[in-house]
Amino acid sequence: MLSPNIQEALNRQVNAELYSSYLYLSMVAHLESENLRGMAQWMRVQAGEETIHGMKIYDYIIERGGRVTLTQIDAPKTKWASPLKLFEDAYAHEQKVTAMINGLMDLVIAEKDHAGHDFLEWFVTEQVEEESAAQAVVEQLKLVGDSGVGLYMIDQQLGQRSPSAPAAE
Ligand code: FEO
Repeated sequence: MLSPNIQEALNRQVNAELYSSYLYLSMVAHLESENLRGMAQWMRVQAGEETIHGMKIYDYIIERGGRVTLTQIDAPKTKWASPLKLFEDAYAHEQKVTAMINGLMDLVIAEKDHAGHDFLEWFVTEQVEEESAAQAVVEQLKLVGDSGVGLYMIDQQLGQRSPSAPAAE
């Protein structure tokens, strides 16, 4: 059984993960409108992963005998001044999500919820990857600056991303 505090925090995390998916889909729409199709593909895969994250927590709440309660998902931003600004936003967002996961981890530790600790470890590891992947794109975009050729090359490279195999979710 989940404690009421943990159940509420997990439900907040479901909302945050689904918002992440919504935010990244908004980024996809923007990138598509700028004809940056490779970056859009990268972000589309990212949005899909966020839905998987949300559902992982959703199912975990049910498995622990808790109650999922869905709440309103905020409207995301719809426009960015440049691909660099967009990926900087994605990176900043991942840092926020990491802070939320860490807060959840602190809570399960404080309440001695060992199963919760075990469950959340996956997310702690995942966040290291999530931050690192977004940061890597930010650094590449900074390197090329306003170079059209540079942007084209990054776009081509990011377009190679395909959905991860289930084991790597
Ligand atoms: Fe689900 Fe990108 O954190």
